[in-house]
Amino acid sequence: MSTFITFHHPILLKRTMSCTVIVGGFFGDEGKGKIVAHIAHKDHPSIISRGGVGPNAGHTVKVGDKEYGVRMIPSGFVYPDARLCIGSGVLVDPRVFFHEVDLLGVKDRIFVDGRCSIIEEDHIARDKGNAHLAKTIGSTGSGCGPANVDRVMRTARQAKDVPELQSYLTDVSLDINTALDQGDFVLLEGTQGFGISLYFGTYPYVTSKDTSASQIAADNGVGPTKIDDVIVVFKAYPTRVGEGPFGTEMSREESHRLGIEEYGTVTHRERRIGVWDGAMAKYSAMVNGATQVAITGIDHVDTSCFGATSYDQLSAKAKDFVRNAEKEIGVPVTLISTGPDISQIIDLRDDR
Ligand code: IMP
Ligand code: MG
Repeated sequence: MSTFITFHHPILLKRTMSCTVIVGGFFGDEGKGKIVAHIAHKDHPSIISRGGVGPNAGHTVKVGDKEYGVRMIPSGFVYPDARLCIGSGVLVDPRVFFHEVDLLGVKDRIFVDGRCSIIEEDHIARDKGNAHLAKTIGSTGSGCGPANVDRVMRTARQAKDVPELQSYLTDVSLDINTALDQGDFVLLEGTQGFGISLYFGTYPYVTSKDTSASQIAADNGVGPTKIDDVIVVFKAYPTRVGEGPFGTEMSREESHRLGIEEYGTVTHRERRIGVWDGAMAKYSAMVNGATQVAITGIDHVDTSCFGATSYDQLSAKAKDFVRNAEKEIGVPVTLISTGPDISQIIDLRDDR
């Protein structure tokens, strides 16, 4: 890979027996689920655990000709050999949770931290019925904001208070830290994206919690010294759902002309589409403490790259895009997604 800037990166050599956090670098829906699925199949984590806000997140995972849209279960479910966990910082909607447990057949390997806050019907009604949230901000209407309010007010119920959840309960922090002490590899999945972080994003057009890597670690009860790698995922053409500033947004006509048309997994709203934002990517990588960068949707930069599995198969245009992004961000691009299927990816981690 002589075409890349050379980075000294000893951490990459010990990516097993360690803890990796995967987060979104733009406004969400960067394709984190796909990256999680790929890394899981390659590096065999014993636990894949979710951080992030709650069921406002939607991951679309495509395996063969089946497509799954999940909101509560970690998108790493497609890797069958890991325990799946939901960290204590995540809001749990039992209705969504049980629906997905049945749909995906993960009953025997999914665990919920007893301290997770519960989303009640009332939270959903308050989310959808509040003009500020529903209209001005354009929330997903999944009850997350109001549920976090009740947690702060210390009136929320926790997962341990819900009889139907009893057989799924665990101490996620203890489980993960024990696995790490045993030398296992653990993957922590973030949700949403940097631009909608409550503290770093485009406030007030943001979600109800921080979305950066530190938060994802904290959601799972994993201290900062235990994190070995942070992979920040960027879409070649970023998207945003809901209201709020989007510096590099293009017109709908322009995005359709490029052949890009996307709909939200949770709300089915058409996503706003923009061009690459190098300054935002650099800033996001900084706050997230990125050690590696994944770029998804390179096939939108040049359709000839669709399905490529090696760097050499990329066109000059796509290679330029990747090299330029790497230079702007200052962090090595180690994964390049070339299509929706789990197999459509270029993994450069061994070449560095
Ligand atoms: P809320 O998190 O449902 O309150 O929505 C607040 C804002 O964050 C809205 O603009 C949502 O569209 C956006 N948002 C929340 N979760 C996600 C996500 O997982 N992907 C993309 N946008 C999200
Ligand atoms: Mg999504």
